[in-house]
Amino acid sequence: MCGIVGYVGSREVVELLVEGLRRLEYRGYDSAGVVVRGSEGLIASKAEGKLDRLVDKLSREPLAGSFGLGHTRWATHGPPNERNAHPVLDARRRLAVIHNGIIENFLELKKELIAAGWTFETDTDTEVVANLISSLYDGDDLRGAVDAARQRFEGMYAFAVMATPREEIVVTRRGPPLVVGLGDNECFLASDPAALLTYTREVIFLENNDLALLTASGVEIWDGQSQPVERVVERLNWDPIQVEKGGYKHFMLKEIHEQPQALQDTFGGRVDFELARVDFDELGLVEKDLAGLRRVHLLACGTSLHAALVGKFLIEELARIPVEVDYGSEYRYRDPIVEPGTLAVGVSQSGETADTLSAMEAARERGAALLAICNVANSQATRISDGVILTHAGPEIGVASTKAFTTQLVALFLLAVRLRQARGMETASEEIAALAHLPQAIDKTLALEAEIAQLARRFFRAEDFLYLGRGINYPIALEGALKLKEISYIHAEGYTAGEMKHGPIALIDEDLPVVMVASGDRVYDKVMGNMQEVKARDGVVIAVTDHDAEELAGVADEVIQVPRVHRLLQPIVNVVPLQLLAYFIGVRRGADVDQPRNLAKSVTVE
Ligand code: AGP
Repeated sequence: MCGIVGYVGSREVVELLVEGLRRLEYRGYDSAGVVVRGSEGLIASKAEGKLDRLVDKLSREPLAGSFGLGHTRWATHGPPNERNAHPVLDARRRLAVIHNGIIENFLELKKELIAAGWTFETDTDTEVVANLISSLYDGDDLRGAVDAARQRFEGMYAFAVMATPREEIVVTRRGPPLVVGLGDNECFLASDPAALLTYTREVIFLENNDLALLTASGVEIWDGQSQPVERVVERLNWDPIQVEKGGYKHFMLKEIHEQPQALQDTFGGRVDFELARVDFDELGLVEKDLAGLRRVHLLACGTSLHAALVGKFLIEELARIPVEVDYGSEYRYRDPIVEPGTLAVGVSQSGETADTLSAMEAARERGAALLAICNVANSQATRISDGVILTHAGPEIGVASTKAFTTQLVALFLLAVRLRQARGMETASEEIAALAHLPQAIDKTLALEAEIAQLARRFFRAEDFLYLGRGINYPIALEGALKLKEISYIHAEGYTAGEMKHGPIALIDEDLPVVMVASGDRVYDKVMGNMQEVKARDGVVIAVTDHDAEELAGVADEVIQVPRVHRLLQPIVNVVPLQLLAYFIGVRRGADVDQPRNLAKSVTVE
C-alpha cells in the first residue's frame, strides 16, 4: 500500500521524510522517492525496491531543502521501477505530485492532454494528475489549480502537490486517508498518523473531498464544494497498539476498512488498463502450459474455500476451463483423479494451513502443476508451488479473514482473465475496466457502517441466522454465515437459496433472521421468489442488493443497498456489509472479535 509523507517548516526535510516513510514500510511497496525544493527548484530522488536503496542513493547524491514530499509506491499503473516511482513531476517541471489511489478516467484525460501538446514519461495515472494541474496552474495559485483539476478526476485518490514559488503543499483526498500534523511553525502530512507521532500529536484527519493548503504557519481547509471549512484538531494519545490499529477499536474493523486499498494493491501493477490485459511475472507457468490447461482444482479451507467457490464461477465463465473445488481436509483422502493438464491452486491467507498444504501435495503427487494464491510471501504454500499469486492485503491480524478474502477474489479474477488470454479468447475489456471502479465501490459500501451497526442492534440477540444466496453469490452467503459464527458465536447457516425449500424452510419463523444476497443478476427473480417464501412463513428478511431497493423494501424487512459493479465482481462488494454485520453483532455481544474463542489465525495441524 502506498505511503505519503510531507513537511513544511524549518527542519532538514529529507531526513524527516525518510523517517516518516520508514514508519509506513509495513504497508508494503515496491519503490520510493522524495522531492524537495532546493536552490534550483524542485529536485526529486527516486529508487526501485526498498527504502534502503533510496537512502543509499541519497547518501551518494544528497538533497537539501526546507519542504518536501515523500512516497512509497505499490505499483498500480505501470511496472514498479524508478521511472514510475513517485514523486512525479509535470512536463514543465513546475510541480511535483505524490498519489495514492486510482484515477479511473486517466486514459480519457491523458488523451486530452496529449492532444493539447502535453508529453508523458511514465506509465502512471499520477502523471495525468501532474500535467492536468500544471495545465491549470498560473504559477501562483496552486490551490486554485488543484481545486479545478480535482473536478475532472473520477475514482479514489489522495494526492499532495508542491510547486516552487511558495513554501506550501496542497492536498486533497477522496477515499484513501490523509492526516495533517500541526507543530510550532511547521506542518506535517501523512497517509497514516503513525508517521507523525514522533513530531506531533495534534492532528486533523481530512474528510473525504477536503482540499487543504499546508504552510509553516498552519493549514487552511476547503470542503468538496470548495467552501472554507474548520476541521477538528484531535490530540492523539495512542499507545503503540492503538497506533497499529490506526485508531480503530479492533484490527478486524481496521482491516475491513483497508479493503479498498488492499484490492487496489492486489490488482495494481498486474493490469494494463489500456490494453485490457493481465500479466503476472510470478505465475511460474509458461504460456504453452497455461494454454494447454484442461482442468483446475481449487483447494482451500474455511473462508479461503468460499473464495475458491467464487473462483469456480470466474474461471469457468472467463476461461471456459472446468473447475473442481474441494476442502483441503477432504481432497487428499478421496484419492482424487488428476488428469494431465490439471492446475491445482492452493488458496490460503497464511500459506501454512495443514489441510490445504496436504491437498496441494496430493495434487502434485498425481501430476498437477501447482499454484499458490497466498497473502504471505515465503510461506510453505508458496515454497512448494510452481507459481505464486500474492494477494497484497498486508498483514491480517484479526483471526476472522476479511481483506484477505476479498483480495483472494481479485486474485482469482485476475487468474481467470490470464487463463482466458492464454487460450487466445476475446479480450475481457468490460471486465478489466470494471476492476478500476471496484475500490471506490467498496469505499462507498463502507459508508454504510452506521446503518449496519443499527441493524446489529436490532438482531444481536438472535440465536440462529440463515444466509441465502444463489449462483456466484451463494459462496457469499456461506462466508457471511461463517463470519457471524466466528465472531459472535451465534449459530448461522449458509445455503443456496434454491435449496431452502428442500429442508431449511422448516426453520423459518419470526425469530430467525434470514440474510439474503439479492444481486440484480440473472437469478434475481429466483431469489425474490425465495424471499416471498420466507415472508409467507413470517420470516424476517435482511436483503443485500445492488438492485432496486424500492422494490425490495416492499418485501424485505431491512434492505442494505450496495453499489453495483460488474456482476463477476459484485460478490466482493456484497460481502462487505456481511463482514460489518458480523463485527457489530459480535461487539454488541461482548465477543473478542479479534481473537474469537477456540480459533487460530492459521490452522497448522490437520
Ligand atoms: C477465516 O475467517 C477463518 N479464520 C478460517 O476459516 C480460515 O479461512 C481458514 O483456516 C483457512 O486459513 P488460510 O486462508 O490461512 O489457509
